[in-house]
Amino acid sequence: MPEIRNHIRFILNDEDVTLADVPPERTLLDFLRLDKRLVGSKEGCAEGDCGACTVLVGRVSGDEVVYDSVTACIRFVASLDGCHVVTVEHLTKGGGLNPVQQALVEHHGSQCGFCTPGFVMSLYGLWMRDPNPSRKAVEKALQGNLCRCTGYAPILRAAEAMSSYGLPEADPLRAERLAIKARLLTLKDGKRVEMGEGAGKVLIPANLDDFAALYEEYPEARIVAGSTDVGLWVTKFMRDIGPAIFIGGLEELKRIGENDGSLRIYAGVTYSEALPTLIEHFPQLTELMDRFAGEQVRNMGTIGGNIANGSPIGDTPPPFIALGAHLTLRKGAYRREIRLEDYFLDYGKQDREPGEFVEYVTIPDLPAGEIFAVYKISKRREEDISALCGAFRVFVNDAGVVGMARIAFGGMAAIPKRAKAVEAALVGKPWTTETIDAALAVFAEDFTPITDMRASAEYRLLAAQNLLRRFFLETQGEAVRLKREVA
Ligand SMILES: Cc1cc2nc3c(=O)[nH]c(=O)nc-3n(C[C@H](O)[C@H](O)[C@H](O)COP(=O)(O)OP(=O)(O)OC[C@H]3O[C@@H](n4cnc5c(N)ncnc54)[C@H](O)[C@@H]3O)c2cc1C
Ligand code: FES
Ligand code: FES
Repeated sequence: MPEIRNHIRFILNDEDVTLADVPPERTLLDFLRLDKRLVGSKEGCAEGDCGACTVLVGRVSGDEVVYDSVTACIRFVASLDGCHVVTVEHLTKGGGLNPVQQALVEHHGSQCGFCTPGFVMSLYGLWMRDPNPSRKAVEKALQGNLCRCTGYAPILRAAEAMSSYGLPEADPLRAERLAIKARLLTLKDGKRVEMGEGAGKVLIPANLDDFAALYEEYPEARIVAGSTDVGLWVTKFMRDIGPAIFIGGLEELKRIGENDGSLRIYAGVTYSEALPTLIEHFPQLTELMDRFAGEQVRNMGTIGGNIANGSPIGDTPPPFIALGAHLTLRKGAYRREIRLEDYFLDYGKQDREPGEFVEYVTIPDLPAGEIFAVYKISKRREEDISALCGAFRVFVNDAGVVGMARIAFGGMAAIPKRAKAVEAALVGKPWTTETIDAALAVFAEDFTPITDMRASAEYRLLAAQNLLRRFFLETQGEAVRLKREVA
């Protein structure tokens, strides 16, 4: 068993912070505003949607300190052990305004100012990586920031002009980075953290094996990864989540492996971390990943959390099921592998024993000649949960006949689910409009969707049918091209 520490340690701007007995539910935003009186970060929505609370969180990764924009309202203090938190107050460290702030002032990018600190922090994170960003890069970095006043155009103009007010090389915080890295490395002592008692208990495992041992010992504990789901249970439903095991800092859960014609993604990999490899293997996922939440949530939310949560409207299960993904579940030292589609048993019920956790998901590469696409339907293009999400994969043979079909939907049932009757209606039939028309009729055998705030049952059924039709139409050219290539 690793040595135990009874407190967490992190750096806030340039202050060393040591805290014992932090309740699992304590959010970073409350800590900043109420305990530290750092009131630059604002509370707009308290659900990760508006970005008014955006701060940067840095951690040592390889040789560097990597900074991500995150929403402090749904980030828990206990998840910050070994991290550097940078708030908007720190940006004026060099005296005067930071170039990002100066650009916003000069381009009239702020009116009531409530959203402004969040915009500043998102843009600051972008400017550090890319001082001359394209319009597309700016829009992507700001997907998770809402403003009711300026109409965005002045903010976008400011973003495009940031580098004319100064370059990251001259940023005082950049000069600070080496010293911060050294300070963060001294915080990495390889110990397990245990604080509090009973429902107030916080556990931070020392490593992956320690996590497995701890969860076996405390099967009633709540696992907290990126907290983009769990955070809302606290801020919106006032729920207690302890005892809680915080796994967001476990490097071993952040691995991505590419071997034997498949991609292995460990549970703690965030969307932002998974994105480059995921779309290299499956370029068809590009739009879906681009429309997944906003930048801050993509920097926190994990692939494992999206699957483990078992939500019927999570965006990764439909494409992963269509691709034939497997899940590796672990309890203590024992591992078992199941098909992802078998993990979802019923609403809120998954095939996971007490003390068992999701270790990684394995997604086979798409075999040559197969056609694959995924579509997300939501009310807003960005920062919105799916009303439904459909993933389609077919193989059409040389004779123009469907040899294989795997279709999966989210938002159409109590769980992410395959459309087995629709698949059966396609396999062995010519890949033609007539076959598609016949398959549309059997959707109702697979799904009885519900009406909720995102869509009515009728809309969902019709939209799902139309997605199959769209897939067929869009892939006509693709099928012909693949057939030619095979020939
Ligand atoms: C503003 C906003 C926008 C969002 N947009 C989208 C969207 O577009 N599409 C979408 O699908 N989702 C969206 N979400 C939901 C959320 O981001 C995802 O479900 C996310 O992947 C959850 O991962 P997490 O690491 O944050 O999980 P957490 O919140 O930490 O945990 C979620 C659940 O999974 C469990 N868990 C976590 N890791 C493991 C593990 N390894 N083993 C077992 N159990 C585990 C936890 O105990 C908890 O029950 C959004 C959320 C917010 C706040
Ligand atoms: S307060 Fe809206 S995202 Fe945090
Ligand atoms: S300036 Fe008022 S909300 Fe953005």
